[in-house]
Amino acid sequence: MRLLILGGTWFLGRTVAEAAIARGWQVTCFNRGRTGRDVPGAESVRGDRTVAADVARLADHGPWDAVVDTSVYEPPDVLLTAGALCGVVDQYVLVSTVSAYQRWPHEPVSEASPLWPSRPDAREADPDIAAMPVAYGYGTLKAGCEQAVVQAYGDAALILRPGVVLGPYEYVGRLPALLHRAQRGGRMLAAGEPDQPIQPVDVRDLTEFTLNMIEAGKGGAFNVTAPHRHATYGGLIDACVQAAGSGAEPVWIPSRWLMDRGVRQWTEVPLWRTPEGTWAVDSSRAQAAGLACRPLRDTVSDTWNWLQIEQPVPHERQAEHGMDPEREAELLAAWDAERTLHR
Ligand SMILES: NC(=O)c1ccc[n+]([C@@H]2O[C@H](COP(=O)([O-])OP(=O)(O)OC[C@H]3O[C@@H](n4cnc5c(N)ncnc54)[C@H](OP(=O)(O)O)[C@@H]3O)[C@@H](O)[C@H]2O)c1
Repeated sequence: MRLLILGGTWFLGRTVAEAAIARGWQVTCFNRGRTGRDVPGAESVRGDRTVAADVARLADHGPWDAVVDTSVYEPPDVLLTAGALCGVVDQYVLVSTVSAYQRWPHEPVSEASPLWPSRPDAREADPDIAAMPVAYGYGTLKAGCEQAVVQAYGDAALILRPGVVLGPYEYVGRLPALLHRAQRGGRMLAAGEPDQPIQPVDVRDLTEFTLNMIEAGKGGAFNVTAPHRHATYGGLIDACVQAAGSGAEPVWIPSRWLMDRGVRQWTEVPLWRTPEGTWAVDSSRAQAAGLACRPLRDTVSDTWNWLQIEQPVPHERQAEHGMDPEREAELLAAWDAERTLHR
């Protein structure tokens, strides 16, 4: 198999490149060479995916059986690459997101749920999109990317909509923030309910699913999350404490109390989010097509082991994740005081 990855040096693209090489596939990664490290064994083609001449030059390195597009955020950039590559690539795999659903995270979603209204020429700077909260703009643009890839590739488009992706190489900062907090030890603020089901997917499981689908030549749209009840938030926190080996002691505080004090969900406390659809993504279609998810405990310990030898690619989103230690201490003291008062 010959595989092209648009990107390929940070997290998901990097994992796809490494796994495809391990399968004996020939892999080409197209990126600007500005940020991540090249994957050993992959051919690197340098260029900017938003520049027509660079993309035309890339096409000269083909043909490929499939392209995996991990680096697209604006629909016209899909039209550019899909248009230039359709003569030299059989299948186009677009990595979209569950954020493309208009009602996520407020309601449970399946592949039949409506996506954000969008268009294949939508840009982040368009007034209607610029006026949206960032998360809705992201979802609207990804929905437009999906329209663009279907326009160019029809049934040969494979659209993957992952929920939260965790594992080694994560640069977003979610699991690293929880692990670094656990490493600090002491009493550790834990938000919500420990038995809250969660559905993160391991980057390596998403990758194996992607490569298997390419091998089988399958198209269509698939939600890619761990199954319902695969893991709990309490299990995640325990796994972080165990991996870090610091004996940190989780102090569970109800969501309402934290929300009343302005604690930011999803970022200040990673992976804590209260809307009812957050962890109610139906991914049974992907499971029926072969998605297999490892225990979350393994994702956590492997990410911890990776963090002992390497740092994530620097990224602006890292700064959003985790709570300032002073603020955490203040919240814990306020929680203790309130409980003493009510005893
Ligand atoms: N993390 C999650 O929880 C989550 C959840 C749902 C969906 N997703 C989706 O999963 C994907 C994550 O992919 P990743 O970031 O891990 O992919 P990646 O392919 O490992 O890294 C991004 C790559 O894009 C390259 N790049 C950036 N701008 C470029 C440009 N203008 N031209 C050419 N190359 C460019 C970067 O290299 P250079 O900077 O050197 O060019 C880098 O190699 C995204 O599509 C995201 O929407 C993520």
